Amino acid sequence: MIKVKESEKRLLAEESRYCSYGDTAHYLKNSKIFSGCDGSFLYDYYKRPYLDLQMWYSAVNLGYKNERVNHAVRNQMDRLPQLASQYLHREKIELAASLSKQTQKSFKAKGRVHFNVGGSQAIEDSIKLIRKTTGKTQFFAFQGGYHGRTIGASEITSSYRYRKPYGHFSNRAQFIPYPYCFRCHYGKHFDSCKYYCVDQFAKLFETEYNSIVDTKTGECEFAAFYIEPIQGTGGYIIPPPDYFRKIKKILDYFKIYLVDDEMQMGFYRTGRFWGLEHFGIEPDVLVFGKSLTNGMNPLSGLWAKEALVKPEAFPPGSTHSTFSSNPMGTAAGLEVMKILQDKTLANRINNSGKRFVSMLKKLQKKYKEIADVTGIGLAIRIEVCQKDGITPNRHLVDEIFQAGLDGGLEYKGKKYGLVLDVGGYFKNAFTLAPSFYITEEEIGMAYKFLDELFSRFTVPKRRPVQKI
Ligand SMILES: Cc1ncc(COP(=O)(O)O)c(C=O)c1O
Repeated sequence: MIKVKESEKRLLAEESRYCSYGDTAHYLKNSKIFSGCDGSFLYDYYKRPYLDLQMWYSAVNLGYKNERVNHAVRNQMDRLPQLASQYLHREKIELAASLSKQTQKSFKAKGRVHFNVGGSQAIEDSIKLIRKTTGKTQFFAFQGGYHGRTIGASEITSSYRYRKPYGHFSNRAQFIPYPYCFRCHYGKHFDSCKYYCVDQFAKLFETEYNSIVDTKTGECEFAAFYIEPIQGTGGYIIPPPDYFRKIKKILDYFKIYLVDDEMQMGFYRTGRFWGLEHFGIEPDVLVFGKSLTNGMNPLSGLWAKEALVKPEAFPPGSTHSTFSSNPMGTAAGLEVMKILQDKTLANRINNSGKRFVSMLKKLQKKYKEIADVTGIGLAIRIEVCQKDGITPNRHLVDEIFQAGLDGGLEYKGKKYGLVLDVGGYFKNAFTLAPSFYITEEEIGMAYKFLDELFSRFTVPKRRPVQKI
């Protein structure tokens, strides 16, 4: 054990000397080194298991070291591990076909797929596609929305913090309030609001002096609206059922494209293949990444309607990246798509999600600080507030998050840790995205750990009995 401790100490010292702090590894007070993973668990340097309720921001939906995906990757490594994107390979073609057929089934629209490597890059490709198609550069996006941190993607991502040090390379989007009913931007209540937020959006188009549309010709300055069907980083916020249908009517009228960012919610996270399927509308462009390869060799991409992406509209060389459609990634992606054909999977996700949410609702009854618990499929949110049920309580979230990673939780006589993720407009929400194969026992374990952590940081400590 002493040797392990020494080696961890050495690594942490080297990390602090040689690794840039510009990524998110130092969001945490105490950085953590992991050295193993399996199913729903990560293992630290001392082989202590950590129940992961976030699965690499929903990139590892099918569980760590998924046998079938790993097998496909190993096979590809032995056969055709490397190939320039300029040349074709079977897995790329079959994966594009599989994604296009699935999307046609979901939205009844024909289209094509264009691959890239990371999520932000695919977002950038979609921006290029929309700009090329429309000749316009103005976009709508949502407050609380997250689409990545490259310079272009930052322009449609809501946080000024991500843009501030770099200036503008493109046009900052016009950000529209997301239907975050728990904290309505307009101070309304869903029971009585009659979609007031949609009316506010519609008002932007009423007169040319609202700076959106030329009312003489009906031409709109805006090319597309970037949405997340369920807001991810914003705190796993589920919009009310008719919201997108109503918004889409306005977009269609003014010929504004809808770009659906499914990076986090795609591939059954919400219990349907694409998150937008819950809302009865179809996208013009859809962007995906993360769990397409179950966190193996990165692959992302966009799907677009045929009219936008047909060869005459988006000809060879329109965009390119050396590692796009890399064969290791496409092999993993193809296997993931095969696994997702399992007809029992959606039921499993929805049942586990319901079980998880109902347990968390029990917890909500115990702790006033748990102000909101909702879920769709296995995308679950816990919004944490002060005892008044509305004032954001970031401090408590940070304490629980850090304590989970400190690894001192007990289950059946063994020590565990807990991996959570923090999101939300005030960084006061736990955004849970467990493995699709999370077991009943693991859900029970999660309940126990969260109960222990909430009680540790909320229940006032009993005064020690005074000895007389
Ligand atoms: C909805 C959404 N879009 C885009 C991205 C950017 O993807 P990447 O981090 O792979 O660049 C993310 C990443 O979290 C995301 O959640």
